[in-house]
Amino acid sequence: MANTSLDEDSCDYLFKTVLIGDSAVGKSNLLSRFAKDEFYLDSKPTIGVEFAYRNTKVGDKTVKAQIWDTAGQERFRAITSSYYRGALGAMLVYDITRRGTFENLKKWLHELREFGNRDMVTVLVGNKSDLLDLREVDVEDAQKLAQLENLCFMETSAKDNLNVEDAFLQMITKIYEIASQKSLDAKKNESNPNLVGKKEIIVVDVDADEVSPNKHTGCCRS
Ligand code: GTP
Ligand code: MG
Repeated sequence: MANTSLDEDSCDYLFKTVLIGDSAVGKSNLLSRFAKDEFYLDSKPTIGVEFAYRNTKVGDKTVKAQIWDTAGQERFRAITSSYYRGALGAMLVYDITRRGTFENLKKWLHELREFGNRDMVTVLVGNKSDLLDLREVDVEDAQKLAQLENLCFMETSAKDNLNVEDAFLQMITKIYEIASQKSLDAKKNESNPNLVGKKEIIVVDVDADEVSPNKHTGCCRS
């Protein structure tokens, strides 16, 4: 069973990640599938911000992913800068049955660059792969975009539980690799007297107090 609570001392790392993409592409269902193994055929549009946790193992470390989900609809969105603050990964979701949601990825990528962390891990996800007969976006088009923008890419179905776990785990593992490399570099710099004072700090800030009362006070090392 997935651990979905913010349980103090239960993890080695805590990573904040965000879901973005047009309304009704399936962001909330991808999250509920990953965090609780649940799917809702009649889910309502998200209003404001929600988030969920799930623990995963990467090597011998326990990583707690804190995954934020907001509204695709502009009028229901919360403060954009707070949403992205401290996020180390983003899942950029479109619906393979609606071409418009793929065209709009330009807008989402622009927002990601404006508000997101410079080396944020980004996974492009074409959701609703169960609806093959209704496909409007070819895999090749998405692969081209992913290559151009240097993103990982995967098609998923939250409904049939296809690739959902893989897409989240790919994002989490990549973040882990970057974080542990930074941690290693910081340690090296620490032992080099010439670099004292230049230690790099890995940001795993989850300062959510502008949008949520559940501010995390830090159980995990960064
Ligand atoms: P906003 O909160 O408005 O931004 O939308 P969202 O991206 O969170 O979409 P949501 O998860 O609420 O899903 C929208 C609709 O798509 C719902 O009716 C879901 O049941 C349906 N849906 C989500 N994922 C899939 C999928 O993989 N396959 C199919 N067939 N339907 C899906
Ligand atoms: Mg939603």
